[in-house]
Amino acid sequence: MELNLELGQIKQNDLYSKDFQKKIKEIYGILKNDDKSKGTAWVDYPTNYDKKEMTKINKLAKNIRSNSDALLVVGIGGSYLGAKAGIEMLAKKSQTEIVFAGINFDYTDLNNKLENLKNKDVTVNVISKSGTTVEILMTLSIIERFLKNKYKGSYKERLIFTTDKNKGYLRERAILDGIETLTVPDNIGGRYSVLSAVGMLPFAVADINIKKIFEGAVQAQNDLDNDDIYENKAYQYAIYRYLINKKLNKKIELFSSFFTSFNSFGFWLQQLFCESEGKDGEGLFVVPLAYSTDLHSVGQFIQQGSPIVAETFLTTNTISKDNSVTNIALKSPIKYLDGKSFFEVNKAAENATIRAHSQAKVPISVISIDEINEYNFGYLVYFFEYACAVSGYLLKINPFNQPGVEQYKKFMRENLQ
Ligand code: PA5
Repeated sequence: MELNLELGQIKQNDLYSKDFQKKIKEIYGILKNDDKSKGTAWVDYPTNYDKKEMTKINKLAKNIRSNSDALLVVGIGGSYLGAKAGIEMLAKKSQTEIVFAGINFDYTDLNNKLENLKNKDVTVNVISKSGTTVEILMTLSIIERFLKNKYKGSYKERLIFTTDKNKGYLRERAILDGIETLTVPDNIGGRYSVLSAVGMLPFAVADINIKKIFEGAVQAQNDLDNDDIYENKAYQYAIYRYLINKKLNKKIELFSSFFTSFNSFGFWLQQLFCESEGKDGEGLFVVPLAYSTDLHSVGQFIQQGSPIVAETFLTTNTISKDNSVTNIALKSPIKYLDGKSFFEVNKAAENATIRAHSQAKVPISVISIDEINEYNFGYLVYFFEYACAVSGYLLKINPFNQPGVEQYKKFMRENLQ
């Protein structure tokens, strides 16, 4: 993974200042502390994961692949966005389709999904760390009815709950009804949990090589396990984000990519940063953009609108399959593309956009991987989790809680009671 801050509009002296060196040493101390109760168990998770749980995940996945046409994953927020990002980036021709539900209160949406599954064999993985999230429990009640109709007395064999080891409604139900479970590890919040069973069961069912994901994450863990801001790209990126916010007064960070593989990854990043940093009036609001589509909708704003955005490009240097445009008629307005491959044109569009946005004084950073694969996905997940935690601590907020999310839930309960 490469990080390029050349167009970031931040001076090296500011990035590597003595003050930041001191702060980073303190933050490294917090992240390395053996007491993980504040929510830092993800820091050494790639090397310290539960091996028995991983064996169980592989066994369950094998079973699901042999008896199901689809895995219906029911989760929301951190219990779904990472899995969706990985599936969209990495799943190729999986024989078992992965469908996501539980992500809203829209019955039409749920009903359409169940209609599509009615003639298929289905396993349902309900993922909720708290085991009490309303969207999830409402969706589960409809899905149980659907499964009962389909599988009669044996329908509970079609359910797997991924939840807290001891508490919450899902854990209690699982004990009461003998439902299969996986565990969300202690002291890892939803948005930091994709490398646990939360992401790994859906990945394994989709035939994604989870061993390789872990290899990438372990490499990132090793690379970032230090307090050296000259070497450590996560610190550089976190300090850069801090400076574009505080010094350049930027309020929004766009995560832009010309590769659709990064689309859902962008939404995972949005949650990771917004829920972790958006406290006490702090943080950059994160917006994922899919280019070139979004150039035709919001490109105008980025180029000439209110100067509040910075942009981070997510990119890759190779793609596995490609094709060229050929036989373009002489008078065609795209004659100059004759013989050019899609990748070549995509890269030219990317370079041109970076140049244009940079000329418009948008601070640009570029994060690139050599190719889209499991290893790099694992590396990026860990890199961004680390950078996000550091970024939060630089802002002096707790990156592992989300007190503000409770307010709408309180009002909703009041409305319904
Ligand atoms: O990152 C988080 O902690 C949240 O986004 C949660 O993942 C989300 O609210 C879902 O919670 P739960 O897994 O308890 O259903």
